[in-house]
Amino acid sequence: MPAERTLSLIKPDGLEKGLIGQIVARFEHAGLKPVAMTLVHLSQAQAEGFYAVHRERPFFQSLVQFMTSGPILAMVLEGEDAVAKNREIMGATDPAKAAAGTLRRDFATSIEKNTVHGSDSRENAAIEIAYFFGQLEIHPYGWKK
Ligand code: RTP
Ligand code: MG
Repeated sequence: MPAERTLSLIKPDGLEKGLIGQIVARFEHAGLKPVAMTLVHLSQAQAEGFYAVHRERPFFQSLVQFMTSGPILAMVLEGEDAVAKNREIMGATDPAKAAAGTLRRDFATSIEKNTVHGSDSRENAAIEIAYFFGQLEIHPYGWKK
């Protein structure tokens, strides 16, 4: 059975603070392999589309503005329990409530500028991965010896 996959985003605050290396290191250390990566600067329509489930929430406009304020790094992470493991490494949405040692506790500025996104279910992971990556852009690890 192929390993589970999830979508991870390093948000504009994470790139502004120069955190790509430290964040990817934590994923790799936990056994989550980045099998696809791309830097994107989302347009307003692309950010609205990605966060469409939140369009009625009071923070939607502000979230879209933040997510289009600079480039983001989109990644597909692959590994056992990738969805849950990524959420655990990220920590709670609000950094003040995130557990010690999580990305958001260590790096986030606020409940909005919280450095990373992670899919919240396998079903949403499949949808979100397809939002950023085509099948031919995902490269499961394997080496010819
Ligand atoms: P994400 O989708 O980014 O992985 O975060 P999440 O599941 O932990 O949080 P979610 O409820 O899906 O919210 C999506 C993003 O919206 C921003 N937010 N702002 N101002 C606020 O009260 C508020 N609440 C959420 C955050 O950037 C959050 O990650
Ligand atoms: Mg979410």
